[in-house]
Amino acid sequence: MNIIVIGASGTIGRAVVEELGARHDIIEVGRTSGKHQVDITDIAGVRNLFERVGKADGVVVTAGDLHFGPLSDMTPAQFGIGLQHKLMGQVNVALAAQHYLNEGGSITLTSGIVGDEPIRFGVNATTVNAAVEGFARAAALELPRGLRINVVNPSVLKESMDAYGPYFHGFEPVPARRVALAYVKSVDGLQTGKVIRVW
Ligand SMILES: NC(=O)c1ccc[n+]([C@@H]2O[C@H](COP(=O)([O-])OP(=O)(O)OC[C@H]3O[C@@H](n4cnc5c(N)ncnc54)[C@H](OP(=O)(O)O)[C@@H]3O)[C@@H](O)[C@H]2O)c1
Repeated sequence: MNIIVIGASGTIGRAVVEELGARHDIIEVGRTSGKHQVDITDIAGVRNLFERVGKADGVVVTAGDLHFGPLSDMTPAQFGIGLQHKLMGQVNVALAAQHYLNEGGSITLTSGIVGDEPIRFGVNATTVNAAVEGFARAAALELPRGLRINVVNPSVLKESMDAYGPYFHGFEPVPARRVALAYVKSVDGLQTGKVIRVW
């Protein structure tokens, strides 16, 4: 199958490309990296990506910025980072993908453990991760042509502990390869409307 991976150069994306690449043709996409570039916050750009790539059997998104910081001085603009990037970016991909993917194709989005387990400075992340999952659970009921949609919800990655460790005391980090298998389950499996947790 032809599978588009948006965020292919990232910590999760690289592992997903390796796992899916064993059986599928991967089209690597990034904001500045990859075979194709897109800014997922721009719906016209996302539609243009699908036009450029042509017919595909699946799209995986492992991209989307969030804002981490204290609630006490959070601004609407800061809160908007997660809304525009991780939420609307992934929603944009799903909205466009439903018109371009081959029959029976799959859409796989990314949330994160903070959606279920709030952490200090994580208000934006908890809100956005929960919203991504809500979107997918409802969208699964309406998608046409046998299209499926799932969300992978990883805990903090072992490979990201240098960057995020101080936010995640007490959380058990998971290796990128184990997280990647959840994306494989979504792409190669039959389930839809599911949140696949890797904790
Ligand atoms: N890492 C973790 O521990 C962890 C745990 C749970 C959930 N998550 C979630 O998983 C997702 C990926 O995390 P990560 O750590 O793998 O990220 P990362 O290493 O920072 O990689 C991000 C990837 O997304 C691409 N990207 C960023 N903004 C984009 C945009 N606007 N349009 C298109 N592509 C864009 C980047 O492309 P360029 O390289 O070209 O800029 C890069 O390939 C995030 O939503 C994060 O919240 C991560």
